[in-house]
Amino acid sequence: MYPHETPAMRLSLLLLVAAAAALSAPAAAQMPPIIVPPPVIVGGGQQPQVPPVGIQQPAQPAAGAPGALSPEFYSQSCPRAERIIAEVMQSKQMANPTTAAGVLRVFFHDCFVSGCDASVLIASTQFEKSEHDAEINHSLPGDAFDAVVRVKLALELECPGVVSCADILALASRVLVTMTGGPRYPISLGRRDSLSSSPTAPDVELPHANYTVDHLIQLFTAKGFTVQELVALSGAHTLGFSHCKEFADRLYSFRDKGGKPEAFDPTMNPSLAKGLQAVCKDYLKDPTIAAFNDIMTPGKFDNMYFVNLERGLGLLSTDEELFLDPRTKPLVERYAANSTAFFDDFGRAMEKLSEYGVKTGAQGEVRRRCDAYNHGPVMPK
Ligand code: HEM
Repeated sequence: MYPHETPAMRLSLLLLVAAAAALSAPAAAQMPPIIVPPPVIVGGGQQPQVPPVGIQQPAQPAAGAPGALSPEFYSQSCPRAERIIAEVMQSKQMANPTTAAGVLRVFFHDCFVSGCDASVLIASTQFEKSEHDAEINHSLPGDAFDAVVRVKLALELECPGVVSCADILALASRVLVTMTGGPRYPISLGRRDSLSSSPTAPDVELPHANYTVDHLIQLFTAKGFTVQELVALSGAHTLGFSHCKEFADRLYSFRDKGGKPEAFDPTMNPSLAKGLQAVCKDYLKDPTIAAFNDIMTPGKFDNMYFVNLERGLGLLSTDEELFLDPRTKPLVERYAANSTAFFDDFGRAMEKLSEYGVKTGAQGEVRRRCDAYNHGPVMPK
């Protein structure tokens, strides 16, 4: 038996692996359908303002000083924005509990590539590819995009042309983290949406599951994030799942650093490794097979991800490596032992992430729909 492992734990591991397999996320590349938003309770007898068909609504002037974010940014122009986002996200999360993880990952993939500017939401067209086409973004779940579509439609009814898609992603991520048990952290508002979306940048700018800790530290520090913030933010893997291809090299034909073949990556808990070998055996035929990132409490935002790493229960090699590298191990141990320390540091790091590379004023626009620029698709020259 693996150190720290009890028979009960071994059983729950296997059950959870099986449950994760049953979950088998739908391939995400497909764009979400346009769905009518669920009813949003309009307080004080106020009717939602519906823009007259065919007449373009002028964008409302931005609140706050140009270039500055503020928590009060929509207090005059759309005071119920945050409540609407919370209501729509809550009903989406209840209907589909994978929403929280999906939105959180989409937010990270947005912010780390050209800043938090909703560039990840732009759909590809016949004429122009977008961040959607980057290989690393193919696995972003359709449900997360669908959640944003629903919120945007509700907000456009309430206060047309006011709330940016970048702010929607920041607020939606926070509300979903809190809703699943995580901390509530401050979010300033007033981000503008991007005017471009590069199909090549995400594969360069985002971390991949086969990166070393060196590579992760390099990537994060180049963007101004500390090692501590890297570890705290990685705690987001307390939610959601990963597809087998992301960790298959730990399970099959594994070779140690000297080239010696092993049954599986010896840094992985053997029960987990064997369970995953069975679950993922057909992953090449069925690339939708997936397993929970936090196999013990997959739907709860807690510090179990770090406890898992100490027991060899990290799913991705980048996860487990955080426990093996002397630069990151003390932080993993601290967060595993102290949930409050993790929540505090995660909240601060998320606040910082949410302000990374934001666009304000003339650097961007408030999109009318999150998947397209206001000027419409770029036509061939
Ligand atoms: C530190 C480097 C990181 C690496 C190498 C990494 C890599 C990955 C990979 C490979 C997946 C599985 C995707 C799939 O198969 O569908 C994943 C999932 C996820 N990642 Fe990360 N990630 C990192 C950091 C982060 C950060 C900083 C956040 C958020 C703050 C985050 C949030 C998530 C979430 C929530 C999921 C689950 C998504 C879902 O269930 O749909 N990750 N990550």
